Amino acid sequence: MKYYLVILFCYMQNVQCNYTFETKYADIVIDHFSYTRNDTFKLKYLINETFWSDGNPVFFYTGNEGDIELFAQNTGFIMELARKFSALVVYCEHRYYGSSLPFGNLSYTNPKYLGYLSSEQALLDFVDVIDILQKSKYGSDGPLPVIAFGGSYGGMLSAWMRIKYPASVLGAIAASAPIWQFTNLTPCGIFNLITTLVYASTPKTFDCSVPIKNLWPAIRRVTKTSEGMAWLSSTWKLCDNITKPADVDKLIDDVIDAIVNVAMMNYPYPTNFVAELPAYPVSAICSNLKDYKTYLKDDKKLITSFVKAFDIYTNYSGNANCNSFSGTPSLGDTGWDFQSCTEMVMPMCSEENDMFETAPWDIQAVSEQCLKDFGVKPRNPSEVILQYGGKNLKYASNIVFSNGLLDPWSGGGVLSNITRTVTAIVIPEGAHHLDLRGSNPADPPSVIRARKFHADSIRGWLQDFYN
Ligand SMILES: *[C@@H]1O[C@H](CO)[C@@H](O)[C@H](O)[C@H]1NC(C)=O
Ligand SMILES: *[C@@H]1O[C@H](CO)[C@@H](O)[C@H](O)[C@H]1NC(C)=O
Ligand SMILES: *[C@@H]1O[C@H](CO)[C@@H](O)[C@H](O)[C@H]1NC(C)=O
Repeated sequence: MKYYLVILFCYMQNVQCNYTFETKYADIVIDHFSYTRNDTFKLKYLINETFWSDGNPVFFYTGNEGDIELFAQNTGFIMELARKFSALVVYCEHRYYGSSLPFGNLSYTNPKYLGYLSSEQALLDFVDVIDILQKSKYGSDGPLPVIAFGGSYGGMLSAWMRIKYPASVLGAIAASAPIWQFTNLTPCGIFNLITTLVYASTPKTFDCSVPIKNLWPAIRRVTKTSEGMAWLSSTWKLCDNITKPADVDKLIDDVIDAIVNVAMMNYPYPTNFVAELPAYPVSAICSNLKDYKTYLKDDKKLITSFVKAFDIYTNYSGNANCNSFSGTPSLGDTGWDFQSCTEMVMPMCSEENDMFETAPWDIQAVSEQCLKDFGVKPRNPSEVILQYGGKNLKYASNIVFSNGLLDPWSGGGVLSNITRTVTAIVIPEGAHHLDLRGSNPADPPSVIRARKFHADSIRGWLQDFYN
């Protein structure tokens, strides 16, 4: 099972998608921690000055694991706020993602090149780009207050930016940032439990986690024979036929990822991600499973009805020739896998009380796999806690953590206020950083309140700054 921290996608009719950004590149040193290695690479960042006027703040998006355009085109809330605050908006790409590759095409070929991919290096990249902005025409009237924004891993980075470099950023909006999804900070089963609860409770009329929990053993039984594998391949119209047990494992992993993605994207209006999805996609999928009780003991019927239900995910557009569950190409899956093998070691497990196949967290097995895949293994599974303070945030300031309670990642998030200026806002009806998306008529009141809380917090920080 893989867990990606992702997703900010355009609401198709949303005008926010139409803002254009100027693309720039900064020369950034490859290794911030070495005085002997001075070679640089081009780090991409995007600027939009539509609303900016002199002396006003910079809204700085701390890019996460994907093409920066993906985030820029799809975080309408930041542009809405920029209009209110006359802010300059900057989206900075994360090194090793998109086109910001320190060693070009070689970047991913060898641990000796990949070793400079880390959140610590990325934060120092952001510090450098902010410095460049301060020294540019934008900062000519004195230092600009910079507010960091981010969603998901990007939200973790925005919070850490404020924690580590308060001289560079005045405050941070950290949306759906699971900064506590680390060893001994959060139980490993919480992610899958929340996903299960979303499927159990979103369809109002029945518990949709029951047919899903029964799906895995059904698939295992049916695919014991090669006839069964052929049956599943053709019933599901799979792009890659299943011919051996390892294929079955992979299929199950992929379907679980897809189920989790759908929970993360359980937005109140149609969105466009890996596939186009309808409003409240969890309910949409589950509605096809509501009669599950009549065929729960019939493996093939259960699988067939799930396949039909999941058509919404694999083939919402109606254009798919065959079904696959592959991710979106603009997200850097390999880079994230590497980071998960070095510092972003997030314990995850499945237990009896969730709807997935039971799977313990096994750091030993994870380390061995990492060694195989990348030639590295976690030095210390608690590295991130040492770097950024873990639960000890009482000396931090000016951070808002927002979490949608329908988001599986909220389990590792900050859900209660820590100090007067390190605050938490919960969005009971929210999925994965719904609050960063542009306003939509279907938004629940709780997300509207969260966005107002963000704006009020920023206003307060700016008042302090200007005084
Ligand atoms: C999958 O199996 C079916 C039936 O045996 C066959 O027609 C099809 O060509 C196979 N597809 C691939 C991609 O191998
Ligand atoms: C996708 O949907 C279209 C239209 O309903 C259908 O003709 C096609 O067979 C579907 N593709 C798959 C792979 O199920
Ligand atoms: C945190 O405090 C703010 C007031 O500063 C309040 O609006 C908010 O609801 C509190 N958050 C939680 C999770 O209680």
